[in-house]
Amino acid sequence: MRIVEAEGISKYYGEGEALVKSVDQVSLSIQAHRITAIVGKSGSGKTTLLHMLGGLEPPDAGTVRVLGRSLYELPDSRRTKFRREHIGFIFQKFQLIPELTVRQNIRLPLETAGKKVDRELEAELLALLDLEDRVNFYPHQLSGGGQQRTAIARALLVKPELVLADEPTGNIDQEAGAALLDFIRESHRRFGQTFVVVTHDPEVAAMAHRKIWIRDGRISQETEQEDRSGEEGESEADSGLFREFPAEGREVP
Ligand SMILES: Nc1ncnc2c1ncn2[C@@H]1O[C@H](COP(=O)(O)OP(=O)(O)O)[C@@H](O)[C@H]1O
Ligand SMILES: [Mg+2]
Repeated sequence: MRIVEAEGISKYYGEGEALVKSVDQVSLSIQAHRITAIVGKSGSGKTTLLHMLGGLEPPDAGTVRVLGRSLYELPDSRRTKFRREHIGFIFQKFQLIPELTVRQNIRLPLETAGKKVDRELEAELLALLDLEDRVNFYPHQLSGGGQQRTAIARALLVKPELVLADEPTGNIDQEAGAALLDFIRESHRRFGQTFVVVTHDPEVAAMAHRKIWIRDGRISQETEQEDRSGEEGESEADSGLFREFPAEGREVP
């Protein structure tokens, strides 16, 4: 199943000599339950593309369908609601609310939507992301890695089918980055989410099933990895980091 289908999407900024074709007539589709990496130099249009795919930024031209829904044909309020229910966004700069604790930040999207918090999943995520002892901390009391993990818990607690991450290892140290990659792999394996990850980081790109290179707002190259399902159960599953995950996993609608 194709969870994301973008047709001829463009986003231009400025005009005349200052015109920047941030994203230029890009078409792509993303298969459900896979990890896709979007790679490219700084300024190549990755963030703009991800925001358009995730319902955050209307394209100047073209269409984006997520789970069969044409996002930008929806009225703003319905698009926002759809996004909150189906898409988890992990921002490069985390975008936590400084006045709220870790727990309050994590629950905010659900509470804003008037939805119940799945306490069991919340406990699992807090344990997996090593935040159990920090639920009452404020963002400034956490390391960069801790803030990033909070942003991830916030994105995943809504049980999104689609998770979009913008340079998730960009603002954390190497060790936190490695733990994050393990987490994405394990979360993908257990919950079957679809991940689209913008990255500079070769290690992030290496774990993807598919890589899409962006250059000057266009797709310049694409590569598919061999089926990676055979890798399940390797090293990270034995590391103890994910011991608390329920063995049966969770159904993806
Ligand atoms: N809001 C904006 N206003 C003007 N120019 C923008 C805006 N957002 C992005 N751009 C420009 O679009 C290009 C692509 O930006 P971006 O999508 O952030 O690239 P990347 O994430 O690959 O670094 C850059 O030249 C950037 O300066
Ligand atoms: Mg960017």
